[in-house]
Amino acid sequence: MTISRLNIRSVRNLSSVSIAPSARINIFSGPNGSGKTSVLEAIHLLGLARSFRTSKVRHLIAAGDPAATVQGKVDSLAQGVEQTLGVERNLEGQTRVRFAGSDIDLASLAELVPLQVIDSATFDLLDGSPSIRRQFIDWGVFHADKAFIQLWRGFRRVLKQRNTLLKCGKIGHQMRAAWDHEFVGFAEQITRLRQEYLQLLTPEFEQIVEKLLPGQSLSLGFSPGWDLKKPLDELLAANFERDLRQGFTSAGPQRADLRVKVDGHTAAERLSRGQKKLAVSALKLAQGALFYRMTGRPCIYLIDDLPSELDATHCQLFCEFVEQMASQCFITCVDSRALSYQWQPNTDVLHYSINDGSVTPL
Ligand SMILES: Nc1ncnc2c1ncn2[C@@H]1O[C@H](COP(=O)(O)OP(=O)(O)OP(=O)(O)O)[C@@H](O)[C@H]1O
Ligand SMILES: [Mg+2]
Repeated sequence: MTISRLNIRSVRNLSSVSIAPSARINIFSGPNGSGKTSVLEAIHLLGLARSFRTSKVRHLIAAGDPAATVQGKVDSLAQGVEQTLGVERNLEGQTRVRFAGSDIDLASLAELVPLQVIDSATFDLLDGSPSIRRQFIDWGVFHADKAFIQLWRGFRRVLKQRNTLLKCGKIGHQMRAAWDHEFVGFAEQITRLRQEYLQLLTPEFEQIVEKLLPGQSLSLGFSPGWDLKKPLDELLAANFERDLRQGFTSAGPQRADLRVKVDGHTAAERLSRGQKKLAVSALKLAQGALFYRMTGRPCIYLIDDLPSELDATHCQLFCEFVEQMASQCFITCVDSRALSYQWQPNTDVLHYSINDGSVTPL
């Protein structure tokens, strides 16, 4: 996916921005509060119809305006065919997504625009709750296997129903066995897809770590959410009294986690902040690399404040890696000199300066 034209209206302090981005590297620099992260947020809005900074749309819409809109000319299949994509979110809570002249739903939009964000919240992938790491794995599985979204929706429905019955205590052994049968069917398929995906992702991740974090031995492990040595239906039956007391299901893919380790220690406990940023970036870059290998379609990368937390050497390594990818990248930094990287003459790099919500190509 590449964006060749981007029109932003009423996103935070960006009242009206229109640019023709490079298909490769776009660097936005400007002072604090000028609107750099808002440009990335607008692209995220175009790709997923939501912000990566807030779940409340009113914060995203420019004060005093009724709606935020982002429109782009996009080549979604990387086949040289450009189409118009537009997303509008208004204060009344409505979302409208138009692609090539038709309304499309959010799952189709997510499939169309593979986006990766590397920003200050990125640390949560190591430091945050398992649900963030499950989302990370499921992004990959969603894009790798068309069947996943239906499996996931089916599983969520069964889990919700089972937990509701556990909470109100209206579930006997016979009813439990019927629900568990469906639960186990979904759980096993989801887990198999997650395992297969991580098997493919791991070598990509290791290669990138070698470049970005030379000398560090990082490894990935998967915890499926229950002890795979035991059949899940037996485990659900054995845990039933406890689940009933707690009011939720204690074993299953809803408890899965991705373990990132350094020499056997949890990465969240062991790595410095800069190392964490590089480790998380390696995970996201690996996802993009694998996605590209599997589909021939590059992801779009939104990298907010690339130089923050990184010394000059690691910043250069990061840029070197970004330069070698096929992806379109939108990178922000307060001062572009902080990137201190000499891009190759044949790399298509565009620099923009942002001041008070106006974006000017340099
Ligand atoms: N809903 C809104 N309407 C209008 N302006 C807003 C709204 N929300 C935030 N702003 C303003 O938009 C500006 C852009 O913020 P943004 O986070 O994009 O800045 P930035 O360039 O990334 O800054 P930093 O270098 O500090 O990260 C800020 O000045 C902020 O106060
Ligand atoms: Mg910012």
